[in-house]
Amino acid sequence: MKNRIHNFSAGPATLPLEVLEEVKAELLDFNGIGSSIIEISHRDKTFKELATNAEASVRKLLSVPESYDVIFMQGGATLQFSLIPMNFAHLGETANFAEIGSWSSKAIKEASKVCDLNICTSSVENNFTSIKALADWDIKEKSSLVHYCQNETIQGIRVTEEPNFEPYSFVDMSSCLFSENIDVSKYDFIYACAQKNFGPSGITLVIAKKELIEKSNTGLPNILRYDAHAKEASMLNTPNTFGWYVAGKMFDWYLKMGGIKEMEVQSKKKSGVLYDLIDSSSFYHNPVDVAQRSICNVVFTLENPELENAFLEEASSEGLEYLKGHRTVGGMRASIYNPMKMDSILALKEFMVNFEKKYG
Ligand SMILES: Cc1ncc(COP(=O)(O)O)c(C=O)c1O
Repeated sequence: MKNRIHNFSAGPATLPLEVLEEVKAELLDFNGIGSSIIEISHRDKTFKELATNAEASVRKLLSVPESYDVIFMQGGATLQFSLIPMNFAHLGETANFAEIGSWSSKAIKEASKVCDLNICTSSVENNFTSIKALADWDIKEKSSLVHYCQNETIQGIRVTEEPNFEPYSFVDMSSCLFSENIDVSKYDFIYACAQKNFGPSGITLVIAKKELIEKSNTGLPNILRYDAHAKEASMLNTPNTFGWYVAGKMFDWYLKMGGIKEMEVQSKKKSGVLYDLIDSSSFYHNPVDVAQRSICNVVFTLENPELENAFLEEASSEGLEYLKGHRTVGGMRASIYNPMKMDSILALKEFMVNFEKKYG
C-alpha cells in the first residue's frame, strides 16, 4: 500500500487513521452481528443505538442545551441554503444575508429564489479579505433571520464574534464546527456538512433551538420541513447510515482527543505555524485581515504566480497533496481540519521554506 499522503484537501478531507482502521475492522462484522452496519435497517436496534450515541456525543462535545434539537440530514450544506428560507422566511418581512465569501454568496443566490432578502453586509469590495463588525451590519427591523457563514472555506476568513441579533441567527459552520469552541446557546441555528471535520460527505448536522424548529413552514412537503425531521428523530426516511456511523466514530475520537477546546488550541497552533511562515516571507502572501484569518483553511499566494504549477508539482512529489486553491480564486490553500496532524504541517512548512530558497 502507498504511504498515506499529507492530505490538505478542503473536503472531503482527511480522517484519522485510527477511525479508518476501526471502520475497516468492522466492515464485514459490526459488533458481532454478522453483517456490516450499512447492511441492516436504520430501524434496527443496533443502528438506533449507534444513532442515539452519536447524538449524545454531539451534545456532550458542544454542551448543546436540552432546548436544542440535533438533526442529521442529507443534501449537504447546500440544501440548507434553500431549506432555511423556505422554512423560516415567513417569520418576518425580509431575511438578512451576509455576503462575506463564496459560500455565503451561494446561500444568497439560492435564498433569493425563495424569499425577499436584504444583504446586511458585503465584503465584495475588499475581495472578501475582511468582515465588518457584526454591530455594523444593516439588520432590518421585523426581519425573520440573519444568515452568515462562520468560516469561509474558500477565502480562508472567519467571523470571530458571536451573534447578538434580534432576528434568529442561522450560521453555516461547515468548515469550522468542532474546530472552534463555540457557545451553542448564542446561536439559534447551526449547520455543517460532515466532510471536513466529521466524516464522509452526504450527512449534515443541524443544531437548532426547538422553539425555532417548531416554527417550520407547515406548507412544505415533510421531507423539506425541519420539524418533521426532528419529530422523527432524523429518520423520516432512510438516513445516510454509513455517514452517521462514521460521524459517531469521529465524535468518539474528539472525546478521546480532549474535546473541542483542545481542538481549537491545536487548530490555532497548526494554522499559526503556516501564518508565521507566510508573514515572515515576501515570497508568500496571505491577504486576509490578520484578526479574521481562518484557523482551518490557510490560503496563500506566491509572489510570482508563474511558480504555482512548480509549487504544486514539487509539493506532490513529497506527498503534500491537494494544495491548489479553489478553482474560483486560484492560489494555494492548506485545509487543516482536526484530523490533520502537526507532522503534516511541519512537512509543508519545510517544503515551503526550501521552495522559497530554491526560487526566491
Ligand atoms: C462553508 C461551506 N458551506 C457549504 C458548503 C457546501 O457543502 P455541500 O457540498 O455539502 O453542500 C461547503 C463545502 O465545501 C462549505 O465549505
